[in-house]
Amino acid sequence: MKKVRVSAPGKLMLLGEHAVVYDRPCLVTTIDTRVDVVLEKLRQKRIVINAPEVGIKSYQRTLAQPPLEKVPKGVRFLEAVLQIFYKRYRPKFGVNLNTSNGFSSKYGLGSSSAVSVCAATALAEVFKIKLSKRKIFDLAYQAVLEVQGLGSGFDVAACCYGGCLYFRTAGKVIKPLKNCKIPLVVAYSGKKADTPFMVKTLAKKREKNFSKIEKDFDQIGRLVEEGKKVIEDKNWLRLGQLMNANQKILQELGVSTSRLDKMIKAALTAGAWGAKLSGSGGGDCMLALVQKQRKHQVEQALVVAGGVLVPVSTGVEGVKVE
Ligand code: MEV
Repeated sequence: MKKVRVSAPGKLMLLGEHAVVYDRPCLVTTIDTRVDVVLEKLRQKRIVINAPEVGIKSYQRTLAQPPLEKVPKGVRFLEAVLQIFYKRYRPKFGVNLNTSNGFSSKYGLGSSSAVSVCAATALAEVFKIKLSKRKIFDLAYQAVLEVQGLGSGFDVAACCYGGCLYFRTAGKVIKPLKNCKIPLVVAYSGKKADTPFMVKTLAKKREKNFSKIEKDFDQIGRLVEEGKKVIEDKNWLRLGQLMNANQKILQELGVSTSRLDKMIKAALTAGAWGAKLSGSGGGDCMLALVQKQRKHQVEQALVVAGGVLVPVSTGVEGVKVE
């Protein structure tokens, strides 16, 4: 029976995290580490999933079987995509689905959204259903929302469209940037972030301190608007300043950590143009914008500050059938 291999890239938030949950824009880039999904159409009416990197070996159910009450954590995103797809397009056959991950899911580089986008694309391909990028985005974003209950969808859009994007909440605007090659050094802070927890914590703060936090989000929105232009102009000096200004607000909002702060300070002292956390905060990765001549010094400083370097290049192709 027909078999396809589909891959999708990881992502990094450049500017605008958290504010993008509240109807402001953000800037996101894809990175050159990819998730792979191999999907085979089965004669039987069964779903079989193997996802070794998240501890899933031979997860099985029949098509008619309602989803388990407690779906194992490692298959939640895939199950959500499968259920939406089967309900919407009613294919008659089952599938065997195998995932492999080019980057650790603990880094917060978007493995859940990448796997969801790959699965939606692979299902459409084997069942010969023509889906536009927008339709794949909508399907995978709906799955992510069903599992997580929240999220702007910027990571799903990055996987679908590739490159660097100017993105507005729920995909109201998805605009590719002209330049995508950004000289970044990325390092992991040693702790996996809990994005839903970070978003909910900030939501509570926002309720209590509405006008102050709305002002912060407006300011982040302005940084993003300028960021879009300076990235296209390759004005790295200014982009660095915008990153620093964004980090200052994120710190005030309470989403940075002492390890992230230490790493960011180390990168700036070693000569980076700018540095900030990337994503929800509370852990995961930081990024530094660095000229070639300083790259080595910045990398060394980040390691001394306790970071784990994650070599990346930016602005790669979105989801593709291999
Ligand atoms: C998490 O990587 C980024 C947030 O803005 C959440 C989201 O946009 O879904 C905090």
